[in-house]
Parts: sequence; structure tokens; C-alpha cells
Amino acid sequence: MAFPEQVRIVEMAPRDGLQNEPGPIVPTATKVELIDRLAATGLRHIEAASFVSPKWVPQMGDATDVMAGLTRKPGVVYSALTPNLQGLEGAIIAGADEVAVFSAASEAFTQKNINCSIGESLERFAPLIERARKEGIRVRGYVSTVLGCPYQGEIAPAEVARVSRALIEMGCYEISLGDTIGVGTPLKAKRMLEAVAAEVPMGQLAAHFHDTYGQALANLYAVLEEGIKVIDSSTAGLGGCPYARGASGNVATEDVLYLLQGLGIETGVDLESVVATGHWITQQLGRHNGSKVALAMGDNRSCDS
Ligand code: HMG
Ligand code: MG
Repeated sequence: MAFPEQVRIVEMAPRDGLQNEPGPIVPTATKVELIDRLAATGLRHIEAASFVSPKWVPQMGDATDVMAGLTRKPGVVYSALTPNLQGLEGAIIAGADEVAVFSAASEAFTQKNINCSIGESLERFAPLIERARKEGIRVRGYVSTVLGCPYQGEIAPAEVARVSRALIEMGCYEISLGDTIGVGTPLKAKRMLEAVAAEVPMGQLAAHFHDTYGQALANLYAVLEEGIKVIDSSTAGLGGCPYARGASGNVATEDVLYLLQGLGIETGVDLESVVATGHWITQQLGRHNGSKVALAMGDNRSCDS
């Protein structure tokens, strides 16, 4: 199959990237500046905050202030993660353009992550999606652990397809397929996607791959061949999931942009600006830049490189 002409990037650094940042809480002003800088690179969709319990994820506790501090750029979607109605109400007040609910293909992971079963999570999302629809807010759905679970191990593609279909039938406009712990390999990713695409149109699917085992770019190449047109990624490869020990960040946005440029696929995003933003945020956090492309393109002033 031919590659798509265009790919939409959904930027994860402010949410998936920062939610698990060890050490002190990242200052609200730094989060705001990160999002504003990302919006200036041409990115059109930024997951800006997470309205989850601050007891569970302390780094996201200032979601309301982060959203309030943004200089909104027209044409950019600023979305937020919402696990329940309480989270949705916060996101509505904060003016989120879009929200995202999250479940998984693994019962054990769902329990650890949101303290309920897959079935209960779907029941919880029903009134949330209804309420969001009344507000005219689109809802994205995540399915985690699609290529393996830290607690359950192997995951059947049929289970990923079942949960994805349920979320679409409930009203999500898109399903983002999460390799939460980055254990997938290309043929496995293809097989999983084929199973899901038999239940949900390919045009409503996105790839959300973490890079723990260094396979994310290879996996993305494989699913691009299958027809995926939406990719979640995180500038400087920031991140990791608090309920998946050892999981590293999403594939780096810089690395995805370089790959897509090489394949002649348009994104509308300026690679050099993202590289500069990645160096800036890693310097602020005092951590290593996880993008190979950013390191290759130089100007890396992050402190431990
Ligand atoms: P719970 O303890 O079962 O919730 O947690 P509860 O309804 O019993 O409430 C307990 C307390 O939490 C109450 O406060 C509520 O008010 C409060 P208390 O009375 O004890 O003071 N609470 C909230 N506070 C703020 N915002 C809220 C909220 N809801 C309840 N929305 C809950 C259930 C879902 C809230 C909790 O498990 C939670 O917040 N989990 C979030 C976990 C998380 O954020 N994980 C990371 C994101 S998922 C991810 O990274 C994967 C993804 O990237 C895709 C991939 O890579 O696969 C998306
Ligand atoms: Mg993730």
C-alpha cells in the first residue's frame, strides 16, 4: 500500500511527556511556555493537560492553571485527558478544545491505571461522552497496552479491536492505539492494526507508540504502510507512564518528522523549531534529550549530554 500524502501529529510532550517527570513539580510557567513554543512550530494538535486525580499523578495537578496561561493560537487544538465526569467538568471550565478518555486492552493495566475494570471504564465514559457532546467537545479514545502489558504480558489483537470498537460506538471520533510499554515489533504492530481495522475504519485510528525497546520508528513505518495517518509523539521523547514501570517516553516528534520528511509525507510542522523546543525543555528539566535527530542536528545544551 502507498504511504499517505499527509500525516497529522498529535503532540504529547506536555501531558504524556511531563506526567511522569521525576523530581519536583515542573513549574506551571514552564509547562505553558512549552505548549506555546510547540504551537509555534506548526503543530496543530497538542495534548496540553490532564484532569486526573492529583493524588495519582501529581505532575498534572496544575492543569487548570496551565490551560488558563496559554496564548491560544488559532487553528491549534488544545486537548486534555479526562478519566471521568469530574475531569471533564474541569476540562470544560478550562476551555479544552477536545478531551480524551483512556482504557486498555488489559484488565490488569486498567485496574492499576484507573482503578476499575475495562467494562467499568466504558460505563464511566458513557455519561462523559454524552456531556462532552452536549458541549460540542470532541472525544478521543485511547486503548493502552495494545502490543503487550507490564502485568499480563501478551495481548490478543481481538481484545484491542473489541475495546476500540466499543469506544467508537460510544462516540469517540478517533482511537489512539497505545503501545504503552514500547514492546512491540513491526509485524506484531501490523497484525494488531489489521485486527482493529477490521472493526474500526483505518481513518479513525492513530498510532501512539512508546520507544522503550527502540522499536517505535520501525513500528510506525509498518503501520504507515498499512494506512495509518495520525501519529502521537513527544518532543525530545519526553515521558513514560506512571503505571507502567520502566516504560520510556513516546517516540520523539523530531525523529518522526525526520522519518516522514524522508518518505515525502507532509506534516506542516517545522522540524528545526521542534528540535530547538526539545533542547529548551530538556535544559529546563535538566534531563537528556531522547531524540536521536535532535542530537544529530546539534545545539544540544541539555545538561547531562
Ligand atoms: P479513584 O481513587 O478510584 O477515584 O481514582 P474516586 O472517584 O474514588 O475519587 C477518589 C478521589 O479522587 C476523590 O477525592 C475525588 O474527588 C478525586 P477525595 O474525596 O479523596 O479528596 N478525583 C479527582 N480529582 C481530580 N480530578 C479528577 C478526579 N477524579 C476523582 N478527574 C481515577 C480514579 C480515575 C480518578 C484515578 O485512578 C486517576 O486519576 N487515574 C489517572 C491515571 C493516569 O493519569 N495515568 C496516566 C495517563 S494514561 C497514559 O499515560 C496512557 C496513554 O498515554 C496511552 C498509552 O501510552 O497507552 C493515554
Ligand atoms: Mg502514552
